[in-house]
Amino acid sequence: MEKISVRPATGKLGVLCVGLGAVTSTFITGVLMARKGLAKPVGSMTQYDKIRVGKGVKKQYKHYGEIVPLADLKNIVFGAWDVFPANAYESAINCEVLKEKDINPVKDELEQIVPMKAAFDHNYANRLDGNNVKDCKTRWDMVLQIREDIKSFKEKNNCDRIVVIWAASTEIYVPVNEEVHGSLKALENAMKSNDTKNVAPSMCYAYAALTEGAPFIMGAPNTTVDIPAMWELAEITKMPIAGKDFKTGQTLVKSGFAPIIGTRCLGLSGWFSTNILGNRDGLVLDEPANFHTKEVSKLSTLESILVPEDQPDLYTDYYHKVRINYYPPRNDNKEGWDNIDIFGWMGYPMQIKINFLCRDSILAAPLLLDLVLLSDLAARAGRFGIQRFLSFFLKSPMHDYTENEVPINHLFQQYVILKNAIREMGGYEADEEID
Ligand SMILES: NC(=O)c1ccc[n+]([C@@H]2O[C@H](COP(=O)([O-])OP(=O)(O)OC[C@H]3O[C@@H](n4cnc5c(N)ncnc54)[C@H](O)[C@@H]3O)[C@@H](O)[C@H]2O)c1
Repeated sequence: MEKISVRPATGKLGVLCVGLGAVTSTFITGVLMARKGLAKPVGSMTQYDKIRVGKGVKKQYKHYGEIVPLADLKNIVFGAWDVFPANAYESAINCEVLKEKDINPVKDELEQIVPMKAAFDHNYANRLDGNNVKDCKTRWDMVLQIREDIKSFKEKNNCDRIVVIWAASTEIYVPVNEEVHGSLKALENAMKSNDTKNVAPSMCYAYAALTEGAPFIMGAPNTTVDIPAMWELAEITKMPIAGKDFKTGQTLVKSGFAPIIGTRCLGLSGWFSTNILGNRDGLVLDEPANFHTKEVSKLSTLESILVPEDQPDLYTDYYHKVRINYYPPRNDNKEGWDNIDIFGWMGYPMQIKINFLCRDSILAAPLLLDLVLLSDLAARAGRFGIQRFLSFFLKSPMHDYTENEVPINHLFQQYVILKNAIREMGGYEADEEID
């Protein structure tokens, strides 16, 4: 087997977050607290999980960082863009996810993280009214200004590498338009002619990141990097891309629970998922055009796990519905209900109910850490384009639909792919042994 050479994680890693809201401020605060030894990064695979390498008598269980060179938390420098000027400390306080006692020990560092002006278009999230926004004549101008931000952040903070991660509000749904999104040339032309309908601000961040030699991760359900034009750019710049939509609460449960139904060959007649959520994310998603983006992403999970074509007796025409309701009293503490109508022997119906009282940003923060560290690793290992091994962390995994590729949504299959990628980058053989 040819050994993949992975550049060491030397120097500083700049992590630039688009959006400095609940998720980002919780993520940053947690990392700063963890590196002072004041909190534990619970839920992070890169910090806790152990993978078996080798087989038989030679097998060993190792942390990811013992298999591949990961950036040390101490070497991360954070930056952000946001529509609102609040710094990371103010944002963490305003979002009310964490208690002040868990924020104050890193207050000074958080206050230094002041958001750069956002590349924003009000039509893409009309519930937001902040004024920390760039003045851009065209989408191309937006790209150039973001590139400038990345360059100067890198220089000022003496960073060796940069990763850009989107944890900003969900934009309105932008359907894939072959004429604009089908090739890099067409996308660039659309940016230059200021086609604001087909070019979302998120696409400008992604374009800028890739051209500045930074991996780009899409944490919202936006179609940003799900277009052939971006795959082409990732190919040219040799940069990894990953998306989309952090797999946190209900969809995590769904992608882990649906395999129980599928593996036991039980039938499914309906799966109704509903949520109440009261943070700013919930406010933006209360707008039908923004919710539609989320709905498409959330609905895709079951399709490749319980496949009607493979088992017509069991999965034909099941009714799958996802709702999100904005309910301010709950703030970030989302409550999700799932009602699953299944059927068994001779078609007799049964029901399963799942009630998940979760904390949205508490579940999302470790995903940001893992996605950032593993995308940086992927870039150093020379991997570029769609990073399928990161599907484990994402609700609606990227796939090449132009080649009819079916995405893997099954949580445990995703886990095997993740482990094998780490093994391979660590110079071990991929395998499918169970453990
Ligand atoms: N928390 C979860 O469980 C979870 C799971 C999956 C996806 N997400 C997604 O993560 C994103 C962030 O969630 P959140 O709870 O932190 O939301 P939030 O509303 O608290 O923060 C988002 C921030 O992004 C800013 N923003 C919007 N457009 C921007 C732009 N163009 N440039 C820069 N900043 C911009 C907003 O001003 C806001 O401060 C949302 O899209 C959400 O759907 C969250």
